[in-house]
Amino acid sequence: MTSLKPFHAPDLFKANAVNLDVLTENYHISFYLSYLVHWPTLFFSTVNPSGDITGYLMGKTEGTGPEWHGHVTCVSVAANYRRIGLAGCLAENLERRSEDPYDAYFIDLFVRSTNTLAINMYKHWGYSVYRRVVDYYTGDPGMKSEDAFDMRKPLKRDVDRKSVRENGENVRVRPEEVYL
Ligand SMILES: CC(C)(COP(=O)(O)OP(=O)(O)OC[C@H]1O[C@@H](n2cnc3c(N)ncnc32)[C@H](O)[C@@H]1OP(=O)(O)O)[C@@H](O)C(=O)NCCC(=O)NCCS
Repeated sequence: MTSLKPFHAPDLFKANAVNLDVLTENYHISFYLSYLVHWPTLFFSTVNPSGDITGYLMGKTEGTGPEWHGHVTCVSVAANYRRIGLAGCLAENLERRSEDPYDAYFIDLFVRSTNTLAINMYKHWGYSVYRRVVDYYTGDPGMKSEDAFDMRKPLKRDVDRKSVRENGENVRVRPEEVYL
């Protein structure tokens, strides 16, 4: 049995099984803490009956006007707990909270253009590619950079579905355009 729980600062010491993954970003501790301060209800974990953290999602809200949206900064599930719906449960919770109380138009996220598993998973949940962010992941010195797909899923408030478009894979933007 799995419970969905708010993520608390001491949980950072219990999330190693989730973070030990090449596709999971490991951030500086202040980055996690800033999410807990600003968006405490958008950072939550799945926990097994022994109290182990088996996955977590770190999210936030951002943007103004029709760009007001929920954002998935990180979603990851421990290797031993994959393929039993935990990521789906985490994503659904962010969706619910982005609609109520935040009343966002859409949810978005950035995913490595080579992370086919995650891209297909997001498509399965109703996300589509909005644009390709060229060289978004710069990597370590000497490593090749990689593009990100900005994927979006419209929420109820986006009645006209303005947050999604066809052929987003071919709409290329630079990282500096994303942060405007
Ligand atoms: C991607 C990740 C979060 C999926 O977690 P999960 O809990 O195993 O995912 P779920 O069980 O909720 O699966 C949801 C859907 O994704 C797809 N999916 C997930 N894992 C898959 C796999 N190994 N092969 C094929 N499809 C897969 C399926 O469509 C699945 O739905 P289904 O089981 O009804 O067919 C997990 O593999 C992970 O932590 N990967 C490393 C970090 C990462 O890539 N995060 C995303 C970066 S943006």
